[in-house]
Amino acid sequence: MDKILVKGGRPLKGTIPVRGSKNSTLPLMAAALLAEEPCVLRNVPCLHDVFTMDKILSSMGATIEFTGRYMTLDASTLDSQVAPYDLVRKMRASFFVLGPLLARLGQARVSLPGGCAIGSRPVDIHLKGLEALGADVNIEDGYVVATGRLKGTDFALDFPSVGATENLLMAAARAEGVTRLSNVAREPEIADLARFLNAMGAQISGAGTDLITVLGVDALGGAEHTVIADRIEAATFLVAGVATHGDVTVQQVNPEHLPAFLSKLRETGADIETEGTRIRARATNGFKGVDVSTQPFPGFPTDLQAQMMAMLCVANGVSVIKESVFENRFMQVAELARMGADIDLDGNTAIVRGVGALSGAPVMASDLRASAALVIAGLIAEKGETAIARVYHIDRGYERIEERLAAVGAHIERVSG
Ligand code: EPZ
Repeated sequence: MDKILVKGGRPLKGTIPVRGSKNSTLPLMAAALLAEEPCVLRNVPCLHDVFTMDKILSSMGATIEFTGRYMTLDASTLDSQVAPYDLVRKMRASFFVLGPLLARLGQARVSLPGGCAIGSRPVDIHLKGLEALGADVNIEDGYVVATGRLKGTDFALDFPSVGATENLLMAAARAEGVTRLSNVAREPEIADLARFLNAMGAQISGAGTDLITVLGVDALGGAEHTVIADRIEAATFLVAGVATHGDVTVQQVNPEHLPAFLSKLRETGADIETEGTRIRARATNGFKGVDVSTQPFPGFPTDLQAQMMAMLCVANGVSVIKESVFENRFMQVAELARMGADIDLDGNTAIVRGVGALSGAPVMASDLRASAALVIAGLIAEKGETAIARVYHIDRGYERIEERLAAVGAHIERVSG
């Protein structure tokens, strides 16, 4: 298994290219199941999770071509409504095929995703929503078995779940009549999905607000769509720039997709400039501790909590970090402590006392964003070398992260073994 080796203490300086959004690409690929003609996605990131979703859709009979960042998906040859456990267990986002399969074929058999490192991650809101749309939903041998013709309805989500919003949006697009989904997620990836579905002929309004209205249609056609930039990847690089007292710019990223993150970064004293879709972050004279509480969009993203924690380990002062979205998303804490961080945990709250410096150590990646936090900690560490094991976690969401960081001055390399 590959490792990433980092020798820190060097400021990152320069512009880092940002790839297409993983968390947009995965539901967009699932949405292509609704189309009875070929679709095209551009700016698709070359990630392990994208390959997994490709395998799942292909196992159902879709034909997918993926070269460079250009993907064609033809689901006209769809011939199975089953998403098998051995593929779904690898990636929770596989569950996004449930809504489209049910809407397109009137039946679906999708393995329950099971939990993962960051929490139990139930799917009750997905299932309640599909039942509200008229589906008959049962759990059989670890699979969700859903059947029935979908009829528009009003449904309020118990929590603004991103995945449930996406699954229900895709199902409602083909339901008979009008569906109003309230208390929905407002993440930018939802609006990106709605744009693609509307290009396929869906009638969706309100995506990005907490009420989405859908007028179901009988069929959806092919469409072309360019995936939005990965705001979480971009923000990860901005944190790395500030944390190393450097000067990092990212491009093609809409600052409005990161409102709470950018104001929090400014609150640390970092110098943040935005111009169109260019964001520049500098730490001229260090940065101070701040309090962070993760929330659904437009609040501070849970997907940036670990990266921010790594930076705050060497802030001037104390930071209180509250993880309110997932129940176990502090996997990075024990590893950061091994690098000299001073962090106390109290339930879903972490007290981070800034220390003078971190030192490199062998550490273990556990989940995607915790792994990104370890890379940032390695870049910060002024002494020693950080060897990050199980880097497949990083490769799920960051395309060749070590090459792009090395290009702006990081002393970082991937070694196999
Ligand atoms: C999406 O996961 C993202 N993944 C996650 O990014 C992200 O952290 C999360 O949204 C929150 O922003 C993709 O888009 C592929 P949720 P999702 O449903 O849809 C609870 C990354 O690092 N919940 O919004 O699974 C759930 O347990 C990944 O890129 C229910 O209780 O997240 C969690 O506590 C990690 N019942 C909270 O809601 C449900 O039916 C948020 O989950 C569904 C969710």
